Amino acid sequence: MKSNALYKVDDCKVSALPKHMRPNGNLTVAEHPASIPFDIKRVYYLYDIPAGEERGGHAHKQLQQLVIAVSGSFDVIIDDGTERRTVTLNRPFAGLHIRPGIWRELNNFSSGAVCLVLASEHYDESDYIRDYKDFIQYTKEAER
Ligand code: TYD
Repeated sequence: MKSNALYKVDDCKVSALPKHMRPNGNLTVAEHPASIPFDIKRVYYLYDIPAGEERGGHAHKQLQQLVIAVSGSFDVIIDDGTERRTVTLNRPFAGLHIRPGIWRELNNFSSGAVCLVLASEHYDESDYIRDYKDFIQYTKEAER
């Protein structure tokens, strides 16, 4: 079992969710355990994001998430304290799995973008690390 903060950006994969394509429109399913690796306790979504705005800017100690651009596009910057990577989400069937202990920033939202987040835990402010310096300290302590 990995210590939470020891997950790396390489552990955060984009996977294709199942698609049911029909002449009258498409349907995508996100379901545990078939297509996502955790039980969903909470769903939230970001929308009406003004041009140039950013979201995120934090890590979680326990929470893991699947992030989907159900409409439009945006970038997710993921950072494990050593490596930083930008993942562009622009397909409603592509889910980015963000592991615990990963810093994330979301930016470059297109007009009308909707960011759907499936979360493994209920909302808990004490699970957040909102300061990047604290995050780096957290990853160093977890590696000891
Ligand atoms: P935050 O997680 O900082 O948003 P983002 O990562 O998208 O920038 O949350 C923004 C505000 O919403 C903050 O005041 C906490 C509140 N919030 C809840 O009350 N419940 C929730 O499930 C979430 C995700 C946020």
